[in-house]
Amino acid sequence: MKIGLLGHGVVGKGVTEIIDGHFPEITVTSILVKDLSEENDPRYTTDAYQILNDPQIDVVVECMGGIEPAYTYVRTALENGKHAVTSNKKMLAHHLKELADTAEAHHRSLRFEASCGGCIPWIHELERTGRIDNITSFRGIMNGTTNYILSDMTASGADFSAALKEAQKLGYAEADPSDDIDGNDAAYKCCISAFSAFHKAVDPEQVPRFGIRHLAAKDIANAQADGRVIKLIGRGCLDYGRLSVYVMPVMLKGDDPMSLVSSNLNRFELSCRTLGTASFGGQGAGSLPTAHAVVQDILSISDSGIPRTWETSDNHIETVRGTYYVSGKDLSGFESVSAQCHDGWLLTREMSLQELTALMQERQDVFVCEVSR
Ligand SMILES: NC(=O)c1ccc[n+]([C@@H]2O[C@H](COP(=O)([O-])OP(=O)(O)OC[C@H]3O[C@@H](n4cnc5c(N)ncnc54)[C@H](OP(=O)(O)O)[C@@H]3O)[C@@H](O)[C@H]2O)c1
Repeated sequence: MKIGLLGHGVVGKGVTEIIDGHFPEITVTSILVKDLSEENDPRYTTDAYQILNDPQIDVVVECMGGIEPAYTYVRTALENGKHAVTSNKKMLAHHLKELADTAEAHHRSLRFEASCGGCIPWIHELERTGRIDNITSFRGIMNGTTNYILSDMTASGADFSAALKEAQKLGYAEADPSDDIDGNDAAYKCCISAFSAFHKAVDPEQVPRFGIRHLAAKDIANAQADGRVIKLIGRGCLDYGRLSVYVMPVMLKGDDPMSLVSSNLNRFELSCRTLGTASFGGQGAGSLPTAHAVVQDILSISDSGIPRTWETSDNHIETVRGTYYVSGKDLSGFESVSAQCHDGWLLTREMSLQELTALMQERQDVFVCEVSR
């Protein structure tokens, strides 16, 4: 399978890093860049149509960003009989229906897992769930930058501008953070999620979004005083055929699993009758996590990503180490591994699971549990 890659920045470089040398059956043959002068890869070209019109190329992978010329290039690739993979949420939010219609008309695949939630297989799960049931709603922490800022403000009491500066220092926020902090990025992901969940294309301009630009430390403190945590949540709901999609900060209850998502992580939830609520979390951005999702899409198109051989294996529990809580009326036999002994219970020293298993073989009458680090 031959790939033409459009854009060789953060995500594009991750894609070549994962593919080059690791998948003999997949080759990135050409890479579109703006300027040939800086780096020297023999695959570089500045002519997009050299890729889009190349009959040898099976899949065009777009990682340039922006609406144009990305939209025209992806549409042309599909019209020219190529499969297309894109990580471009802004372009997709504006043109997903036209591109999906074009892919359908030309019997090609259009895949866009990386556009929503980086490495989290969110689009895949929406599509899989939709094979069995009607998804009724989704919600998610869809933007890692704002989640980092909110987590920092919640943990340290920092004000918004200090938390934003820190996010910029760590590379989580761009120099112009508007798309993140004003909720645009999450709104694009809501549009893409609504398309995959409900098969409905909503104009991103029609998606209300309230960001966190004007959030103050006192707002976080007010939420905390009520046992709540502020998160920026994107939501979509289909109620008797009527779609609603929006993004806004929410004061979540402290026991809501979304409230526990820290740092720059993402979490998505979908709801339907047969599953109830299912959730998916992980790294929503970054070069390799996002490229991972792009390459998964390529492998899905080539159907060569699943290993076809299996081998038997021993279970190497001697490599698993932990400390364990043991309780029971008679704790004899555990003296040699005990680090703290109490009336009716003890904590072990760090030990291997193999050692614990050997001790437990003689003892069916005690309760044991791992003490998480
Ligand atoms: N970074 C992430 O973690 C992440 C996560 C999920 C999705 N995405 C999406 O993935 C896409 C790429 O993001 P990125 O972070 O990789 O951006 P990036 O680092 O700016 O890379 C984009 C690359 O494409 C090049 N480019 C832009 N327009 C071009 C054109 N017309 N012809 C040739 N080259 C062109 C850029 O060149 P110049 O630098 O010279 O402009 C740059 O090298 C975006 O749509 C983004 O929203 C990114």
